[in-house]
Amino acid sequence: MQKLSIHDRVIAPSLLAADFSKIGAEVLRAVHAGADWMHLDVMDGHFVDNISFGPAVVETVNKASDIFLDVHLMISRPDHYLQRFIDAGSDLITVHVEAPHDVSETLGRIRSAGLQAGLALNPATPLDEVLPYLDQIDLLLCMTVVPGFGGQAFMPEVLEKISAAAAIREERQLSFHIEVDGGIDAITASRCYAAGANVMVAGSSTFRAPDMAEAIATIRRG
Ligand code: DX5
Ligand code: ZN
Repeated sequence: MQKLSIHDRVIAPSLLAADFSKIGAEVLRAVHAGADWMHLDVMDGHFVDNISFGPAVVETVNKASDIFLDVHLMISRPDHYLQRFIDAGSDLITVHVEAPHDVSETLGRIRSAGLQAGLALNPATPLDEVLPYLDQIDLLLCMTVVPGFGGQAFMPEVLEKISAAAAIREERQLSFHIEVDGGIDAITASRCYAAGANVMVAGSSTFRAPDMAEAIATIRRG
């Protein structure tokens, strides 16, 4: 697969909204519906108030398809578990700036393993927190809900942070994707594109839509 640029609109359905009794089939359903990436939400019950799945499920998804795996680690010690997610077949690993770890070192390890590196920040975290790391990342994930659960309402106050991130990216001549995650549907996606984001994570609005292909196409159009 050709490497996508910040000018490409990327739709990444979140597996969290899929039917867990048939993960392989759900991944293929997303692929056939036009998904560009599969977004995998890993939650540890510490960093967020929910537990989802770990490296074994990432490996299952990797075996089901060759779709690009966008792995979002909502866990307290991403540095400790990193190698297991690399070995499971991740293509891009995103870690949170709020988690207790040496952020710069973790990002460096992800890239040294030949993967793309992402850095996430929660809605309440100011953009300043990620500024020291922008030249070490391939993707900045601006959470548009408080992470932990699918199906929450989009927080429009994050749009300003997305625009600010896009402006700094241009100023510094960097090329990281800006991804949004939480409450994304065609309407909120269009606001995020306008602010400068290009990667749309969407769980409920894709996996739970009556027609997934139509839902993905509509989010892509924005
Ligand atoms: C939120 C997760 C999201 C979630 C999005 O904690 O990081 O990826 O699955 O779900 P929707 O699209 O339903 O808001
Ligand atoms: Zn996510």
